[in-house]
Amino acid sequence: MCGIVGYTGFQEAYSVVVNGLKRLEYRGYDSAGVVLEVPESGFYIAKTKGKVADLVSISQSFEGKARIGMGHTRWATHGVPSDKNAHPHLSNNGKISIVHNGIIENYDTIKKILTDKGYTFGSETDTEVLVNFIQYFMDTDPALDFSEAVRYALNEVYGAYAIAVMHRDFHGELVVARLGSPLAIGLGEKEYFIASDASPFVEFTKEAIYLEEGHMATISLDKGVDIRTIKGNERITPAIQELKLSLEEIEKGGYEHFMLKEIFEQPKSIHDTLRGRVLVDEGIIKMAGIWDHLERFSKADRIIIIACGTSWHAGLTGEYLIEEYARIPVEVEYASEFRYRNPIITERDVVIAISQSGETADTMAAIKLAKEKGAFIYGICNVVDSSIARISDAGSYTHAGPEIGVASTKAFTAQLTILSLIALKLGKHNGNLGNAEFMKLISELETLPKKIEEVLETTHGSIKEMSKNFLEVSNFLYLGRGYNFPTALEGALKLKEISYIHAEGYPAAEMKHGPIALIDENMPIVIIAPQKGHYDKIVSNVQEIKARKGKVISVVNYADSRVSKMSDYTIEIPDSSECFSPILASVPLQLMAYYIAVYRGANVDQPRNLAKSVTVE
Ligand code: AGP
Ligand code: GLU
Repeated sequence: MCGIVGYTGFQEAYSVVVNGLKRLEYRGYDSAGVVLEVPESGFYIAKTKGKVADLVSISQSFEGKARIGMGHTRWATHGVPSDKNAHPHLSNNGKISIVHNGIIENYDTIKKILTDKGYTFGSETDTEVLVNFIQYFMDTDPALDFSEAVRYALNEVYGAYAIAVMHRDFHGELVVARLGSPLAIGLGEKEYFIASDASPFVEFTKEAIYLEEGHMATISLDKGVDIRTIKGNERITPAIQELKLSLEEIEKGGYEHFMLKEIFEQPKSIHDTLRGRVLVDEGIIKMAGIWDHLERFSKADRIIIIACGTSWHAGLTGEYLIEEYARIPVEVEYASEFRYRNPIITERDVVIAISQSGETADTMAAIKLAKEKGAFIYGICNVVDSSIARISDAGSYTHAGPEIGVASTKAFTAQLTILSLIALKLGKHNGNLGNAEFMKLISELETLPKKIEEVLETTHGSIKEMSKNFLEVSNFLYLGRGYNFPTALEGALKLKEISYIHAEGYPAAEMKHGPIALIDENMPIVIIAPQKGHYDKIVSNVQEIKARKGKVISVVNYADSRVSKMSDYTIEIPDSSECFSPILASVPLQLMAYYIAVYRGANVDQPRNLAKSVTVE
């Protein structure tokens, strides 16, 4: 999620901050802003929806004005991307300015308390609530030190954040804090930098402190860097690190490619997708988009899911989920086919449109058609305020964070997570899913980030090694049944789009109706076979493959004994309910596609002929 930059020192702050923001552009964002603090005049603020270049055109006159300042690139989570929602935000008294990455989950409760006390808000963001909350503590106790007020406020909020704050009466001080979003402090000669990663300041200093979870720091030229715990105000001796990474490496967080970084981000992205939506203690799923329209869903004759590519694969899994748990008939359509085949759509239909970018032309056109015919449109998008998010009647953001690699990875598993939430929510609401099963499933959802972490840790090395064996192969087959039939399709798509090896996904039972003719000792076949549902049937399919000398790569659970015995390569994933197994099984398939492509020398982040958002028909 987006970027923070800050500076205090002897240099001209504006250029350090704005050039720093440019370095963070790779993270993806929708708005940008800058604030400078000048002792006599106060804050100079410029912010805009759009790019850092747009910001420069409205703020160039700030150059030369200050030696302390902060900048921000926003990836909207609360409120559409707009000039007024862009950061920095100011407190009501105009004395405190803040930039923030992340989400303040209980912002609505705090906003209500502050509104009752007379505070007003000019934006829809959670961030503006936080800055006024800091003011509130200082209003309540005028003797309170600025950094203490920040600490008090942070102790009352929950969520994920990296923040940087300045106060006009505490000139020269930058207060920063971190919980869940990264923040680095660059230590120069008589100057300090702060940033979401080291790329904005690596040209000025090689010494940095990476703020730890739950820590905050007060930074000033006089006092240096004073690090404390947010909870107990205990002083921490910082670990100073020497930066060894090149700029490029830093942008990718030390990973060789964005795709690998995004694969590894999945524990966090799924956590972010679930955040604030699954309240196990209260036994509810709280999703504003669906909460307000439950009746519309319940009265639907059917749900039509429209999407393209990877998002379409997520939609297919959505069909299994919604039909199993909510017992509402679901049809899944390629957006491009749907729009041109004169489909029957009525006002009683609910259309779920899935799109990472929210800009896919085919999906957009299909939505327009369904809308004209009176269907209710529910959008599932990753990019906030994208065209599809705007045109939908309601929807949910996946909150997976910017996805830069052209091959979709973390957005896909986030889409599966949202679809799981929708299916469980609808099933609970319409009585098809009993409370005990509902509780079991929502508790399990919360364990998924940890399980993905485990998959990444335990399979990464072996998949990297195994992938070397398939560099000269021309064809791959991916097979799965039930919930993992779409996983097979997605695994095959990942491989073909980045490695340029031809791959096909099939329902395992369909193999005997055609593709079996292709199987010989040169054909690798990926079998997704967690020990659920159709396991026995899959065992027979593997036997059929082995009888024809095919090379089997299986994705199985730890306790598996039958499929793994017949496999040439085995990838083990933790056990889960069948409906969540696609989320876990997709991760090793992404890794395998990635490494085969890398060893074949392909440009994995920008595969030939492909675009990140396909805005043409
Ligand atoms: C994903 O790896 C692909 N590059 C592609 O299939 C993509 O999923 C498709 O173009 C749909 O994009 P969207 O989710 O942004 O609508
Ligand atoms: N939640 C904040 C907002 O919507 C910050 C988003 C970000 O990480 O940029 O403005």
